[in-house]
Amino acid sequence: MTSVGQVGLGYWGKNLVRNFDELGVLTWLCDQDEGLRTQFASRHPHARVTGDFDDLLKDGELDAVVIATPVPTHYPLAKRALEAGKHVFVEKPPAMHESEMAELVAIAEREGKVLMPGHLLLYHPGVHKLKDLVDSGELGDVLCVYGNRQNLGVIRKDENALWSLGVHDLSVILYLIGEQPSQALAKGHAFLTPGVEDVVFCYLEFPSGKIAHMHLSWLDPHKMRKLTVVGRDKMAVFDDMELERKVTVYDKAPEEPVGTYGEWRTRTGDIFSPKISNDEPLKLECRHFLSLVADGWDGREMRDGLEVVRALEMLTESLRA
Ligand SMILES: NC(=O)c1ccc[n+]([C@@H]2O[C@H](COP(=O)([O-])OP(=O)(O)OC[C@H]3O[C@@H](n4cnc5c(N)ncnc54)[C@H](O)[C@@H]3O)[C@@H](O)[C@H]2O)c1
Repeated sequence: MTSVGQVGLGYWGKNLVRNFDELGVLTWLCDQDEGLRTQFASRHPHARVTGDFDDLLKDGELDAVVIATPVPTHYPLAKRALEAGKHVFVEKPPAMHESEMAELVAIAEREGKVLMPGHLLLYHPGVHKLKDLVDSGELGDVLCVYGNRQNLGVIRKDENALWSLGVHDLSVILYLIGEQPSQALAKGHAFLTPGVEDVVFCYLEFPSGKIAHMHLSWLDPHKMRKLTVVGRDKMAVFDDMELERKVTVYDKAPEEPVGTYGEWRTRTGDIFSPKISNDEPLKLECRHFLSLVADGWDGREMRDGLEVVRALEMLTESLRA
């Protein structure tokens, strides 16, 4: 059985702890915060608890490390873990520069270890349904994909809305479109913490002519977790705020009646919601990591992670310009 140690027991880390604990693999817990260590030690008496990440790396019995610390710490911690011979599950994004992510990928390849970025939405059954709709051709040619990820909070100070929120939508947009953007533009503003943009608007163009857009904000009255795919024949929406109708397919499209060249009309047909399984995406993601460690892998997840970091860096250059 794979043994897993986790560093970072904060807001998100506790969800990973719960899942890896339920999967019966958790042997180490690590956080710099003494209060959190005390709290988690009483809840997980079978796991060893420490404030020093090196304790995990020195344990020859420990197979894998889960990193759920703030984004700027991901690259140095993941690098040390891989170099210590551990498999790594690291929260998104694993690095803040393409060069750093490429280095992590190279170390993982050299060491023969798994490096899996925590792109949670790629394990969401609703996103898999969107992908099926795109790949089966049911929507027709995809023209445009756009994401809305807005809420009031969580207000972050270490990473801006692009790196904190955009990474989710970007991972799905690249997964659905299957191309790297040829152009990436971003505009945003830091209203609260200097240098940390709270609101970011992004525009992406792909070599095939498809386009994408993302509205990312933690200063917004609406809690939105939505992705819309506009196809030539149908349109589909994944709305993670919906309890039951996570995916809705709209049989709506523009049409050009025969003999009326250039005279576009619109067509509206049925609207339906396919069944989506209720499996918790985070549980599926944790299980997937353990299966990669146990069964071996071809590195797809870390190469996809590299593409996401590359696109994030293109958007960041535009934002800074
Ligand atoms: N997948 C998702 O949907 C999702 C959602 C929220 C956050 N996240 C990601 O999870 C990560 C953590 O976010 P959070 O909101 O839990 O942050 P947080 O600040 O609440 O928790 C981070 C914890 O890491 C600890 N820490 C930092 N550096 C450390 C070190 N070197 N050694 C030991 N402990 C250390 C801190 O003490 C803190 O308790 C981020 O990368 C974030 O992007 C993912």
